[in-house]
Amino acid sequence: MSTTFQLDTSTSRAHPTPAPMKRLTVPQIRARKVDGVTAEPIVMLTAYTARQAQLLDAHCDLLLVGDSLGQVIYGLPSSVPVTLDMMVAHGAAVVRGSYHAAVVVDMPFGSYEASPEAAFASAARVLKETGCAAIKLEGGEAMAATVAFLVQRGIPVMGHVGLTPQAVNVLGGYNARGRSTAEADKIMADARALDNAGAFAVVIEGVVEPIAVAITQAIGCPTIGIGASAQCDGQVLVTDDMLGLFERVPRFVKVYENLAEVIGNAAAHYAADVRARTFPGPEQTYQPRADKTA
Ligand code: KIV
Repeated sequence: MSTTFQLDTSTSRAHPTPAPMKRLTVPQIRARKVDGVTAEPIVMLTAYTARQAQLLDAHCDLLLVGDSLGQVIYGLPSSVPVTLDMMVAHGAAVVRGSYHAAVVVDMPFGSYEASPEAAFASAARVLKETGCAAIKLEGGEAMAATVAFLVQRGIPVMGHVGLTPQAVNVLGGYNARGRSTAEADKIMADARALDNAGAFAVVIEGVVEPIAVAITQAIGCPTIGIGASAQCDGQVLVTDDMLGLFERVPRFVKVYENLAEVIGNAAAHYAADVRARTFPGPEQTYQPRADKTA
């Protein structure tokens, strides 16, 4: 059963009714898929800041603090240079800004691949210092033992197969995966391995549609598609992409707003006001901001 949420326009915080202050849990998300059917699709968006989380929280089941923040927030060329410190700082901010959605934090490249023990140390730090509900890591069969190790020790894991951006240097780019039979079989095997290892959900990124559909039918846990198929059990997008904020948007992304244009126009009007000495204007003399903590 999903709860009804209203947005308080004075604070932009979600006010859930009738059961306030109850976050969705990982078992509730996993339980959306019963005998291969997900009656209520899972809604996930990325969030990197407290304010972004406040605005998205009411509408999402899951907020993903994606390592895409490397490109989106930090202007890095890929997610490879993203550090655990960055993920912890942004993860904590997103948890502070939300109280309905379950928050999932990406494990950055280099923080989990070496061994299950290394993964546990990194993931435990993320859970302790952010308060998030789960972590996400990339990779399939090669990561299955690590996923089982984490889950058995109290760390819920979301998997990620297909186009795995942290492997860009091995894959040679961000092209769709699964065009050859061998590649399609491998992605299916990866998803099955994660499901069997106890992942509560698996992101399927950038694969040809029939494979995403076949995986969704084949595995027990929910699939979350991105550039995959509308038939997945849920969908995720990079929020800045669907808001028209990021300059390079993948072809599959539906852009719902053009906020880059809105921000550019606002900045242009402000600049014109300052240069004409008409800022702030007679009716807008300086007033300290009201304390919003009350
Ligand atoms: O880092 C990220 O934002 C992601 C999503 C694209 C799934 O992993």
